Amino acid sequence: MEVSKETSPALEVATSFDELGLAAPILAALNEMGYKTPTPIQQQAIPLVLAGRDLMAQAQTGTGKTAAFALPLLQKMVPHANASASPARHPVRALVLTPTRELAIQVHESVVAYNKHLPLRSTVVFGGVDMKAQIADLRNGVEILVATPGRLLDHANSRSVLLSQVQFLVLDEADRMLDMGFLPDLKRILDFLPTQRQTLLFSATFDDNIVGLARSFLQNPLKVEVARRNTSAENVEQLVHKVKEEDKLDALVRVVNSRGIPQVLVFTRTKVCADKVGHRLQKRGIQAAIIHGDKAQVERLAALEGFKQGKVQYLVATDIAARGIDIVELPCVVNYELPYAPEDYVHRIGRTGRAGASGLAVSLVAPDEERLLAGIERFIKRDLNASPLPEIARPQQVHAQASSAEAVPAAPAAAQIPGARVGRRRAEPVCALLLPPVQRAEPAPSAPQA
Ligand SMILES: Nc1ncnc2c1ncn2[C@@H]1O[C@H](COP(=O)(O)OP(=O)(O)OP(=O)(O)O)[C@@H](O)[C@H]1O
Ligand SMILES: [Mg+2]
Repeated sequence: MEVSKETSPALEVATSFDELGLAAPILAALNEMGYKTPTPIQQQAIPLVLAGRDLMAQAQTGTGKTAAFALPLLQKMVPHANASASPARHPVRALVLTPTRELAIQVHESVVAYNKHLPLRSTVVFGGVDMKAQIADLRNGVEILVATPGRLLDHANSRSVLLSQVQFLVLDEADRMLDMGFLPDLKRILDFLPTQRQTLLFSATFDDNIVGLARSFLQNPLKVEVARRNTSAENVEQLVHKVKEEDKLDALVRVVNSRGIPQVLVFTRTKVCADKVGHRLQKRGIQAAIIHGDKAQVERLAALEGFKQGKVQYLVATDIAARGIDIVELPCVVNYELPYAPEDYVHRIGRTGRAGASGLAVSLVAPDEERLLAGIERFIKRDLNASPLPEIARPQQVHAQASSAEAVPAAPAAAQIPGARVGRRRAEPVCALLLPPVQRAEPAPSAPQA
């Protein structure tokens, strides 16, 4: 198997978006979004994508991988940008696949923002909603299509979209997209695409099996790793509290109230548990929303949007919300139950501590979860020592009357955690100092010749 010996153009690292050679309309959009400096993964990946390379790119959660693929793709499509009304002048050239509907919507929102001053067209298609509006959009012609695999296949099979001119394929959360759950759909989608294309895999985690499998989709790829493989986000303080299963709800509320945490994303393993926790919080008069795969799509979107806007304090979620979702300055994630897959831990806690902000991740670990905890520690190569639960707040801090440990005070409306401003889009740039140092792009094993 050949290994690429080519010297990476990323060795000379550009420290501004300007130096990366992006067109003026893209720079203007970045400026409006308050992006001042490219993050390390953007510094490394953008020149490689512009140079036409296939990539396996790994960087920690919340470090700007979306722009790392979206910006160079837009740049590469600038020559095709046109204002013609004819759908034929707007074939799908870039396809971005994501594992969840919510992430597809979010990635598309980012594309729209970066593309604001270019006449390139984009849309997003995902399941759980009517196909008609999506078909109309697709028939109008779009250069950039963001999609979840199942719905995309529906459209491809019914010929409401043609994928024969796709030049760029991005798998966001690539390790998830290549696991057994998605692989069959992905293979069917690949049958609709030209074999000559540029393929980009991005994730915060890659395991060796996936690396091997990915080779068959890539041509002479480069591997870009910012920070050691599978590391959790650096700015996230990780705490473990050993708690009996029946005491977890009290422990959750105690953690949140004693620290005055204005918003918390709570992960459970199952939909049943998410419902149970959410409903029990609601019964206590706490504003809590629930999101999982059995909810109608409108409910899923309303729950996430309400949480993003700061309308509810708790969002109780399954791993549907673990990957990619960007909730600006979310201060805290709680693992009510540890995930079975250690990489899900990395993604879950990566919902906080994004874009240079600090965050807190608390895991409530019952005796029968010790083995899962050990697996997570091995995966992230770090010990997570248990600490006692925080004290219940003293009476003068109590806003609501507490009759038990679970009825500790409601969180104050104003954030006590620095940077925890709820329901507002971040405008300031990533603090580059808080991000891991830039590492060199390495050649990755090349794909077997087709
Ligand atoms: N250069 C930049 N300057 C300022 N903010 C940035 C920059 N790049 C990205 N961001 C912001 O950082 C946040 C995280 O970006 P993004 O969602 O792309 O992270 P990610 O690496 O894909 O994380 P995950 O692994 O969780 O998917 C977003 O709010 C994004 O707008
Ligand atoms: Mg992402």
